[in-house]
Amino acid sequence: MSELKTKSDKHKATLEAMAKADLMGREVELGEKRIVAEGGTPLLRIEDLKLHFVTTRGSVQAVDGVNFNLNTNKAVVVVGESGCGKSSLAKALLRLLPRNVGEYSGKVWLKDVETMSLSDEEYRKRIRWIKMSMVPQAAMNSLNPVLRVGDQVAEPVMIHYGATQKEAMTQAAKLFQNVGVPVDFLTRYPFELSGGMRQRVAIAMSLVTGPDLVILDEPTSALDVLTQANIFNLLKRIKANLETSFILITHDIATSSELADIVAVMYAGQIIEVSESHRFFSAPRHPYSAKLMASVPKLRSREEPDFILGKPPSLINPPTGCRFAERCPSRFEKCSVEPPIYDFGEDWVKCWLYEGKVKPDERNN
Ligand SMILES: Nc1ncnc2c1ncn2[C@@H]1O[C@H](COP(=O)(O)OP(=O)(O)OP(=O)(O)O)[C@@H](O)[C@H]1O
Ligand code: SF4
Ligand SMILES: [Mg+2]
Repeated sequence: MSELKTKSDKHKATLEAMAKADLMGREVELGEKRIVAEGGTPLLRIEDLKLHFVTTRGSVQAVDGVNFNLNTNKAVVVVGESGCGKSSLAKALLRLLPRNVGEYSGKVWLKDVETMSLSDEEYRKRIRWIKMSMVPQAAMNSLNPVLRVGDQVAEPVMIHYGATQKEAMTQAAKLFQNVGVPVDFLTRYPFELSGGMRQRVAIAMSLVTGPDLVILDEPTSALDVLTQANIFNLLKRIKANLETSFILITHDIATSSELADIVAVMYAGQIIEVSESHRFFSAPRHPYSAKLMASVPKLRSREEPDFILGKPPSLINPPTGCRFAERCPSRFEKCSVEPPIYDFGEDWVKCWLYEGKVKPDERNN
């Protein structure tokens, strides 16, 4: 409890400093900070994470052996086609599991705590919202319609830090200021707010307890282009000011490139490439990543955006070899065997094309 209080106090102090400096009105120059994906201290380590769902047609292997590391104050952008398991990965990390869970296994360290070994009670008390929170897909529609938004943002502070309602509301008001929602909106109901404002409220709710890591699942889908850009700018400022790490799931590769320190590409339940963002955007290594990037329209190019032939494999019986093989222009005989992970130091890729170029990693599945 005392540790939680200290964390809460630290967070409050940071928010107060932000409010005083009126940082929300200014553009924060990330400069060098964004360029360097390396550095920071280890925050998250995921080893062989699996989340399978039981269905009448068989077991859906939505998350199937995910490995990933993230340092403090970093933003990783997770991209991949619809249905590849991005939301399931977020749910697996936050243990927000549906009733039809089959296999749920692996290791997830948040700093020095291995969260998968915690009981549900311990996990709820020590991890969810306190250390790791989430803005779920379509969050702006998931606010409780019959509760005032201020009360909804204040609630986690009362539950997790034992704050009084007055204290929690003060904290909620500071968060509103920091995410650009007028403080007098605290007493409004969700239906009285625009989509963009509701999304900001959802982001405020995810930050109010001062977590180390926030997972945002498609935070800008269903918003107009201008509001999307505003939300991305807001996330940049929060990252720079609150030193929070983000896992940002998005289809908007182009806009998210502004925020990303690292890009993780997911395909058919697995992460198949992790690269520092500048290296990724200039030269993605995995053939699927290259196709994804080629499918992003470019403003100054006369070239038509490319598209990826075919569709991802079923997650009920995924292929035993490389899961992208059927659609891969570079496939060769070896691709009928599952490729190992090839490690480039900070970056890695799961593809046979890199055999002999760098050493395979121990994280091979
Ligand atoms: N509770 C469930 N039971 C059975 N299958 C599920 C369940 N939840 C998700 N799935 C399936 O798991 C796969 C991955 O779904 P998920 O929602 O994680 O994908 P996604 O990458 O987030 O897609 P999108 O980009 O459309 O949001 C899909 O085939 C989906 O149909
Ligand atoms: S392992 Fe083979 S099929 Fe898979 S992406 Fe690499 S080259 Fe293509
Ligand atoms: Mg999703």
